[in-house]
Amino acid sequence: MIEFQNVSLSFNNNHAVLNDISFKAHFYEKIAILGMSGGGKTTLLRLMLGLVRPDSGKILIDGQDIVTLSESELRDIRMKFSIVFQEGALFDSLNVRENVVFFFREYSSLSEEEIEKKARELLGKLGIEEAIDLMPEELSGGMKRRVAIARALAGCNPRMVLYDEATSGLDPLTADNICSLINDLAKGEPPERTGFIIVTHKVTDAIKVAERFIYLRSAEIAFDGDISALRNTEDPELRSFTEELHIAEKYI
Ligand SMILES: Nc1ncnc2c1ncn2[C@@H]1O[C@H](COP(=O)(O)OP(=O)(O)OP(=O)(O)O)[C@@H](O)[C@H]1O
Ligand SMILES: [Mg+2]
Repeated sequence: MIEFQNVSLSFNNNHAVLNDISFKAHFYEKIAILGMSGGGKTTLLRLMLGLVRPDSGKILIDGQDIVTLSESELRDIRMKFSIVFQEGALFDSLNVRENVVFFFREYSSLSEEEIEKKARELLGKLGIEEAIDLMPEELSGGMKRRVAIARALAGCNPRMVLYDEATSGLDPLTADNICSLINDLAKGEPPERTGFIIVTHKVTDAIKVAERFIYLRSAEIAFDGDISALRNTEDPELRSFTEELHIAEKYI
């Protein structure tokens, strides 16, 4: 269970990025965090991992307040999550295999052969095993995103996967493909299911995967609900944000 209790944060004494945010989420949920650019979405994920500390409030992961934990204690908390960073940043000087096994090497005591086998298995699962010897610059955007997902999943058995803009900058078909992959990876049924939080600008991608939608606006949670609540919202700004959803529906 993840619980934010009255969390506030501002950087360099500027206006609040997050102001008195409270919500609870289970690891098995499928959540989309929506909001304008600069709205604090990535910051919310970073807070959850203890990469940033709030100015005030509590962040409980499985009942433990991570705000007060040391770096070594935070390691155990971070192991509960896999993270696909925004833009899926890969290490440019490493080939696909080395990118994927990077965290395997760090977190597991497997032999080199076992690591190779695991890397192939993961890349195979994501449909890009043939790219194992390529360098990042030789990959398309969609392939890079898949490698980033493989790397995030390597070496740990997460309770929840955090995707920061996993589909942004991709053509609609490739984005759709990544959405299917995100769904496939959220295997099992609650409460055992490995859930996810996907952070995105794209409502159309969010509705393909998520069951719960959280909309951040002016440092606060302006909406938190399911798809039918999202479709029926009266909030003018949220309606304009979800306009593509309404436009798409007209053509279905
Ligand atoms: N380490 C930092 N130091 C100073 N300001 C920061 C830092 N990290 C984020 N910010 C600021 O906090 C605000 C929220 O940033 P954040 O990256 O969380 O937004 P976002 O919703 O993820 O945006 P985007 O959709 O563009 O990725 C921005 O104004 C940003 O400039
Ligand atoms: Mg961001």
